[in-house]
Amino acid sequence: MFKKPVKFAVFNNKGGVGKSTVAVHIAHGLAIRGKKVLLMDLDGQNDASLFLGFTSEDYGNSLYEILIGQDGVGLEDCIVHARDNLYLLPARYIERVNDNLYREPEISSFLGNKLCGLDKMGFDYVIVDCGPKRSKINDAALYFVDYIIVPVQVEAASVRAIGNIYEYLSDLGLDSDMIAMVIPNMYDRRTGEGRENLDFIRDFFADSGIVTDPIPRRIKIAESGKNGQTVYEYDNEVSKLFEGVVERLVEINGRKG
Ligand SMILES: Nc1ncnc2c1ncn2[C@@H]1O[C@H](COP(=O)(O)OP(=O)(O)OP(=O)(O)O)[C@@H](O)[C@H]1O
Ligand SMILES: [Mg+2]
Repeated sequence: MFKKPVKFAVFNNKGGVGKSTVAVHIAHGLAIRGKKVLLMDLDGQNDASLFLGFTSEDYGNSLYEILIGQDGVGLEDCIVHARDNLYLLPARYIERVNDNLYREPEISSFLGNKLCGLDKMGFDYVIVDCGPKRSKINDAALYFVDYIIVPVQVEAASVRAIGNIYEYLSDLGLDSDMIAMVIPNMYDRRTGEGRENLDFIRDFFADSGIVTDPIPRRIKIAESGKNGQTVYEYDNEVSKLFEGVVERLVEINGRKG
């Protein structure tokens, strides 16, 4: 018997809040703990791939060939070995896939069907880095995963927009309990505004227990991505900021398994 991976989408309707950063770091953090992880890049900007140091010249086939059903191309032809235990499924032409999905009658089973082979590849975790905004491809991603991780930038406009994800899930007929974690990101505890916005996030989710400790704004996090490295490789001290989140993910998988 094989154990299916537990699947997480890293999503927020809002752009630039740290989705790709969080997706890459939880994926690498879990891989360092010995978990076999697939990071799926489902955003046309390819930031998750770039943050791991892969440009489109480094891969041949991508998720695109799988999603359009190109003959003779299987999942194993598209997955790139990125680090020990960490595999990357890069993407191209996501906008094109998105446009095609308007003609797809069964969005809710689309990715599950196209990627059914994943369940037998021995992954413990699949982490999907989503682009911002509502889109057909994000609808498909949210139907595909077991849980959602929501990074929220600790800043007024992002905090005000928190409710949008609930609306989105409700419109898709999905349960808001899918939100396993809310990660306040780019927190600056030195300003009153930072502290107020963090309090707002904590109050909004009240006693649900899904809000993690905040990840502070650290220049090393941005620098590491630009270098195609994670902070686990770039700055050991800063990498500890992601450990609480990784620990929670290990616990969630333990409960599911
Ligand atoms: N905690 C942090 N400290 C400093 N910089 C950060 C932090 N988190 C993210 N960043 C930087 O902020 C920028 C936006 O982050 P990221 O690309 O992860 O956001 P995103 O939500 O994926 O954006 P998009 O909506 O465009 O996909 C990047 O340059 C990233 O390096
Ligand atoms: Mg991104």
